[in-house]
Amino acid sequence: MKAKITLAKEFKIGEIDKRMYGSFIEHLGRAVYGGIYEPGHPTADEDGFRRDVIDLVKKLNVPIVRYPGGNFVSGYNWEDGVGPVEKRPKRLDLAWGTTEPNTFGTNEFVKWCRKANSDCLMAVNLGTRGVEEARNLVEYCNHKSNTYWSDLRRSHGFEEPHNIKTWCLGNEMDGGWQMGAKTATEYGRIALEASKVMKWTDPTIETVLCGSSSRNSPTFGTWETESLDIAYDSVDYVSLHQYYENRADDTPTFLAKSLELDEFIYSVICACDYVKAKKRSKKTINLSFDEWNVWYHSNGVPFEKWSVAPPRLEDIYNFEDALVVGSMLITLLRHCDRIKIACLAQLVNVIAPIFTKTGGGVFEQTIFYPFMHLSNYGRGVALNPLIDCPKYDCKGFTDVPFIEAIATLDEENGEMAVFCVNKSLDEKAVLEVNLMDFEGYKPYEFISMDGYDKKAENGFTNAAVKPHINDVPAVDNKILTAQLEPFSWNVIKLNKK
Ligand code: AHR
Repeated sequence: MKAKITLAKEFKIGEIDKRMYGSFIEHLGRAVYGGIYEPGHPTADEDGFRRDVIDLVKKLNVPIVRYPGGNFVSGYNWEDGVGPVEKRPKRLDLAWGTTEPNTFGTNEFVKWCRKANSDCLMAVNLGTRGVEEARNLVEYCNHKSNTYWSDLRRSHGFEEPHNIKTWCLGNEMDGGWQMGAKTATEYGRIALEASKVMKWTDPTIETVLCGSSSRNSPTFGTWETESLDIAYDSVDYVSLHQYYENRADDTPTFLAKSLELDEFIYSVICACDYVKAKKRSKKTINLSFDEWNVWYHSNGVPFEKWSVAPPRLEDIYNFEDALVVGSMLITLLRHCDRIKIACLAQLVNVIAPIFTKTGGGVFEQTIFYPFMHLSNYGRGVALNPLIDCPKYDCKGFTDVPFIEAIATLDEENGEMAVFCVNKSLDEKAVLEVNLMDFEGYKPYEFISMDGYDKKAENGFTNAAVKPHINDVPAVDNKILTAQLEPFSWNVIKLNKK
């Protein structure tokens, strides 16, 4: 097939907030224990953090990590996780049916973030707890000194405040599986009051209101407008969560899910702007897509109830999942004028790009690579590409373009990149990219992932699915031509010398 992409500097969508490439660590399964934290592991540093994991997190270049949940946060007493470790209580975690030892908590996470070159996106418990505990946590983390909670932090060995800037007001509060689930009105009220006093405690912070737990949630839409109607003036972002699966083993439909994602994002923007119009407000609410990924391989896997850090949600990803993750991230970038935060859920072991063996090695899952490419090369502004290519129909979708793409331009550093997925299972695409508007930019690297069975996976002894470098595409009369293999992930890097 033939495909054409026309790009222009005027097709700017928006600046890409670096937090677009965030991720998520929950107290769930082996994300913390055996994942980022494993004292006694051969690579553990003086704080018990696995260096092999930190090295891979740095490769992914993750600027912000959400913590400590997720469903877990809705039953969490943050006070259990600070102070002398030997005095910290063990608690039942009702979200995931396990025992939480609390040997890792807020201060350990902040320390870990510093070592991983990330900021912390902290969530407060608005399920079983409320306004009081939320404001205390802000005071503990962000107030300098001379108050009960800030001095408690100092007594725990952290003289300087953590200065955590962005805070999630609970998690998926519309879901019946959530401890302390609420109606939109109940949630709007508690979110408003929590956000208000958290900001009185530290006026520099920003807060994220929980949106629906997914587009399929029965209250999706009304949840957003009703809770925002109440909390609008105090909050800065609304959250979105979405996971996709291919249980029906229908790859064309699985690959088309990014179209649904696009509509989902658009409808949440509409919900925010509807409330803005209704209030005649000058303030715009932006989006925090703080959970997104493929998730289904591990569903139904049994575990030992009330054990500590049993394997949970340990999806092993295949090649088609990597293309879906690439398409999802491209779709998020297409809305970077409104999405300011996004978190690949999650980061280590639990539905994650990084997979460890407790006491053993680590490997990069297939989905590691598209995320790594976008996070490292997709900086600056996103440009909306005009794509002319054949389309296909599948279950639930018509007119799905075979080529999904985004371009990014970082003029300050003279760097540009085009990211494309070829969704065709069997057809190559001859892609022409019109570079008329980009005087001086020349391609210098062409990276792809292709040629693998769509179900191919990586493992500890088999890193089969990984990117490779192609010949640099030719440019003739400002038209770049590249061959995109069937069913492939592609990154074309250009620069201006
Ligand atoms: O990321 C796994 C879980 O998915 C999170 O705990 C929850 O917020 C969502 O339902």
